[in-house]
Amino acid sequence: MDLMKKLSKKAKERKSSVVAVSEEVIEQPEEQPEPTQDSSLIHFMNVLLSSEFCFYFQAHTFHWNVEGINFTEYHDLFSKIYSQVFDFVDVIAEQIRALDEFPVSNLNLVLDLSPVKPNNTESNPRDMVKSLLLNNGLIIQSATLAYDLAEKQNKLGLSNFLQDLIDKHNKIGWMLRASSKGE
Ligand SMILES: [Fe+2]
Repeated sequence: MDLMKKLSKKAKERKSSVVAVSEEVIEQPEEQPEPTQDSSLIHFMNVLLSSEFCFYFQAHTFHWNVEGINFTEYHDLFSKIYSQVFDFVDVIAEQIRALDEFPVSNLNLVLDLSPVKPNNTESNPRDMVKSLLLNNGLIIQSATLAYDLAEKQNKLGLSNFLQDLIDKHNKIGWMLRASSKGE
């Protein structure tokens, strides 16, 4: 066998071994586990979304209905809060979409899921601030539950977002506490 024939035979052998290896790889059963997404994470994200929505609504109604000698101060404070929280609602819903799930889109279900109950019977600024403070705490609890689940499921982008959200609610809590001092 001359040199050219030998080289051509070797090339064919190499080619057939590559095909055999790639076929072997293709035929191997999938050993990678299916990516899992615990449904409780979506549930608690929807609880959080519902809570924020009710909190937004409560702060906005307080902005409309507050009365008293410090009207402007509270009217502006509640405006600051509802504007900020309205933005949170949108971003939380989009985070749920990023998980390839759907945000709660039924108002009755929002009220069922939310630990924040916007009954809004408060008639003076002091009670309004007290109620917002209590509900702000409930939102921090919901966000913390969702954060723990996101961390466990290694959803780092989401857990960072939730950490940031908790920090923003801590600041809302500080604003509310500071505004009611000395009254
Ligand atoms: Fe307004």
